[in-house]
Amino acid sequence: MSEKIHVLLSEEAVDKRIQELGDSISQDYAGSQVHLICVLKGGVFFTCELAKRITVPVSMDFMSVSSYGDDTKSSGVVKIIKDLDDSIENKDVLVVEDIIDSGRTLSYLLDNLRSRNPRSLKLCTLLDKPERRVTEVKVDYTGFEIPDKFVVGYGLDFRQQYRNLPYIGVVELD
Ligand code: IMP
Ligand code: MG
Repeated sequence: MSEKIHVLLSEEAVDKRIQELGDSISQDYAGSQVHLICVLKGGVFFTCELAKRITVPVSMDFMSVSSYGDDTKSSGVVKIIKDLDDSIENKDVLVVEDIIDSGRTLSYLLDNLRSRNPRSLKLCTLLDKPERRVTEVKVDYTGFEIPDKFVVGYGLDFRQQYRNLPYIGVVELD
């Protein structure tokens, strides 16, 4: 099976939007600091680009959860593969995710993080597919709402490929 990738959001469009998100976050956290939690692996490109555009002090930690297998279907099973290194107690936490699809992963993750008593807990996602929502999730910062298409690039993969594309593309299977 081969696949074709069509550009959905250009590198310029994504960069511009990340700058806007960085500006909003910097304003909202003015006088404070923000502890970014990158959801691996997909969130890593977005987290780094976003962090560079935040002007308040930033600290970062990484977490890995499984939600999808190697294909385009949700397993519905969420498991912590790698937990945070540091406590988030009394920190202003901002979870940074690549995409919210069914919402199952984030709903589980946010409940889990909330139980660790952060001072505040917010969510930033580069992409959101609202049509696909199964579990309600409150999103504080959204890069782009996109249609129900399987996308790759900027950290998002199809069978572990294409994470390094500097734009968001739609996968079309032949
Ligand atoms: P959810 O639990 O269904 O919201 O799934 C979220 C996770 O599924 C994301 O963090 C991605 O890893 C993966 N995912 C969902 N949609 C896509 C997509 O269009 N392309 C690549 N990965 C996706
Ligand atoms: Mg992800």
